[in-house]
Amino acid sequence: MEKYTEQLQINHLRVPNRLVMPPMATHKSGDGRIGADQIKYYTERAMYSGVGLIITEHSYIHPYGRDNSHQVSIAFEENIEDFKALTKLIHEKSEAKIICQINHAGSRAKEPGDGGELVGPSAVENPSVKGPAPRSLTTSEIHEITGWFAAAAKRAKEAGFDGVEIHAAHGYLLNQFYSPLTNLRTDDYGNADVQHRIRFLVEVVRSVREMVGPDYPVAVRFGGCDYMEGGSTIDDCVEACKILEKEGVDLLDISGGMCVYKRKDYTQAGYFSDMAKAVKQAVAVPVLTTGGVKTLGEAEELLADGCADLIGIGRAIMRDAHWIENQKKDEVEDHV
Ligand SMILES: Cc1cc2nc3c(=O)[nH]c(=O)nc-3n(C[C@H](O)[C@H](O)[C@H](O)COP(=O)(O)O)c2cc1C
Repeated sequence: MEKYTEQLQINHLRVPNRLVMPPMATHKSGDGRIGADQIKYYTERAMYSGVGLIITEHSYIHPYGRDNSHQVSIAFEENIEDFKALTKLIHEKSEAKIICQINHAGSRAKEPGDGGELVGPSAVENPSVKGPAPRSLTTSEIHEITGWFAAAAKRAKEAGFDGVEIHAAHGYLLNQFYSPLTNLRTDDYGNADVQHRIRFLVEVVRSVREMVGPDYPVAVRFGGCDYMEGGSTIDDCVEACKILEKEGVDLLDISGGMCVYKRKDYTQAGYFSDMAKAVKQAVAVPVLTTGGVKTLGEAEELLADGCADLIGIGRAIMRDAHWIENQKKDEVEDHV
């Protein structure tokens, strides 16, 4: 039997197979609302692409944490109804589960909302983006942002999502605290060691957990390695993931740090699988890896090699809502 067809338990959630549509910003929202076009786009992929799990594009938790003006918002109660329409349709029309990714952009923001400013751990440039250095956050602001994450997670649960994913990858705020390239602080949230660098993330995980309860799946998209001189390493990532597992994270979604979602000079299927495999060997919770997978055969191979429990297929599914059917057609054609 093919490995990808096996079910997987994530906390109390049963995911019908091992294929995932990872979060991908559609840049289609005008006012933060998720519109009919986006709902159609996600529903088609839930019905036809073959994935057992969709993680929706990053939604901002507060206008100050907005990345850009076309981003989806989960910052307000009035966003819940639109999301409800999305989750209801996905659940009615498919077996797929749907998790909401929540984010604060920090110093990576192109257009913070409501007159917000660029903020980060330290007043240094963020290597994941070309832009000015941010203002360094105070401890009380860090606590306030932690509360924004928890409130957003509550809204995601109310909207009918099957779980929530905290975005701590790709050079966004929580990743900025983890990376030694952007965290030059000397306080409790500083760069003394991995524990300090993920303190903010751990506090977010705790307050999200407290808000959503023990049975609700909480995932972290973790930008575990910067793959840059002086940046975070795979060893750091393994250490951090062991802590996150102890803190009750249900799914470790492993991706890039300051290198964002690509890896320079690497294009092969599963280009972050060195990191994901190291994490998988160190933890018992499910691990997801995404990067460069285009075919079902490639996903199957990564599962068989023990690189991860779940495989993300991003751009290929963004382009082709009927991905799995076309994969199977290609397989048949290869054999005639
Ligand atoms: C247009 C686009 C938007 C993306 N938006 C997000 C996002 O909102 N959140 C996130 O964690 N990753 C985002 N990503 C990264 C993808 O989830 C994925 O990691 C990346 O596309 C690599 O996987 P692939 O080679 O299968 O496409 C985005 C990628 C693309 C191409």
